[in-house]
Amino acid sequence: MKFHIVTFGCQMNVNDSDWLARALLARGWQEAPEDEADLVVLNTCSVREKPEQKVHSALGRLGQSFRGRPQAFAAVGGCVAQQLGEDLLRRYPFVRLVFGSDGIAQAPNALERIAAEPGLQMALLDFLKTYPEREEAWEGGAAAHADAPGPRQCFVNIMQGCDNFCAYCIVPYTRGRQKSRRPEAVLRECREQIARGVREITLLGQNVNSFGQDAGGAGMNFAELLHAVAALPGLDRLRFTTSHPKDIAPEVVRAFGELENLCPHLHLPLQSGSDAVLRRMGRKYDTERYLRIVRELQAARPDIALGTDLIVGFPGETDEDFERTLEMMREVRFESSFSFKYSDRPGVAAVNMTPKVDPQTASDRLSRLQELQNEITSEALESRVGAVCEVLFDGPSRVQSEDAAFWRGRDSGGRIVNVPLCGAEREEDLAGRMMPVRITEAKKHSLIGEKTGEAW
Ligand code: SAH
Ligand code: SF4
Ligand code: F3S
Repeated sequence: MKFHIVTFGCQMNVNDSDWLARALLARGWQEAPEDEADLVVLNTCSVREKPEQKVHSALGRLGQSFRGRPQAFAAVGGCVAQQLGEDLLRRYPFVRLVFGSDGIAQAPNALERIAAEPGLQMALLDFLKTYPEREEAWEGGAAAHADAPGPRQCFVNIMQGCDNFCAYCIVPYTRGRQKSRRPEAVLRECREQIARGVREITLLGQNVNSFGQDAGGAGMNFAELLHAVAALPGLDRLRFTTSHPKDIAPEVVRAFGELENLCPHLHLPLQSGSDAVLRRMGRKYDTERYLRIVRELQAARPDIALGTDLIVGFPGETDEDFERTLEMMREVRFESSFSFKYSDRPGVAAVNMTPKVDPQTASDRLSRLQELQNEITSEALESRVGAVCEVLFDGPSRVQSEDAAFWRGRDSGGRIVNVPLCGAEREEDLAGRMMPVRITEAKKHSLIGEKTGEAW
């Protein structure tokens, strides 16, 4: 059997696809291009309307390409699968498995059965009470995705689901209630990954700061888990995502000053700079509290690089609310941000909130916000020129030149750094290695640096 996985959405989906690929490889299946695959898996996202539409166009395309190949079939996983469920099986007869975030643990066995039993369709959509541990599968398989981790980096899930019900967000409905993973299982997976050569681990969850706070508990809070993972011998870099500002504990803030391998980099979604909008979003913090956290983080780790998520055009957002968001951006000076136009999602509280912001106004706000972000990003990158940092390389840069081989990696703050190797050094393979680099130039979204020492 040949399979192909297409991944939409967040890092949790990237990580899920990666595991599914490994579990299928362990069963003797092979990865293949989409038009040669017997099974195409779509791992989907429904956080906004656009990614959901992409799933339907991908399914339309698959319907065409499966014509004349009756043995080929599709499976749909992730958030759209959880949301639309068995409707997908009815609407697209060539879809023979739908699975949600808890069901994925059973997906490899289900796929084997389906491949052997013509006509069988299955749904794995139940939410479970505890974190569903998955079988261990290590060999090969990499989800083809722009966010896929580099050769010696990996993601490790620490929880699933979300209990926050922010007024705009569909995730609590598609990923279910928060369930923390057992710390022993997290540590076992981290240890195994390090033994296999991983140097950088990113702990993953919708809301990592509330690790261990759900009904099942975990016998450990997030700060304790961070300390335990950071102490694993051989781990060069540790990151985590995503954090909710309301739950970030003082011990986690302090960890940035205490743990040497915890990278000075934090994604802390703000969503809006207006207290009135934050209140309607149900975020449970205000700008004052957010700024206090930022100052504490900067006190613990002065070089910390902050990133964020922002939504414009939330129902009722006025010009003045939006100006507040711009002010917060100027105040915090986020090095990077993901920003989105509010998108109505079925079943969320904000659907019933009025007045809706007209789409043109929301688009104008989004462009103004992104312009400001570009300015701040440029200035932040510019200020790195001259600094010496350690870069962990993913692989060759996309852009190469005639007289040098360019390698692409990230510094500990998560900034992209491209480094040329000239002369005899052109033959050197930097993928998965770390090297001291002096930053020589800032581009719009990345840095250029020169080698100042040997790679290791
Ligand atoms: N727990 C994750 C949320 C994942 S959703 C986190 O806090 O990062 C990722 C981002 O998508 C959110 O932070 C939010 O900025 C955005 N988002 C979620 N629902 C949205 C909606 N209905 N419209 C626009 N953006 C949305
Ligand atoms: Fe998309 Fe959210 Fe689901 Fe991730 S958890 S796939 S961002 S809807
Ligand atoms: Fe969504 Fe808010 Fe949870 S953004 S994933 S409901 S923390």
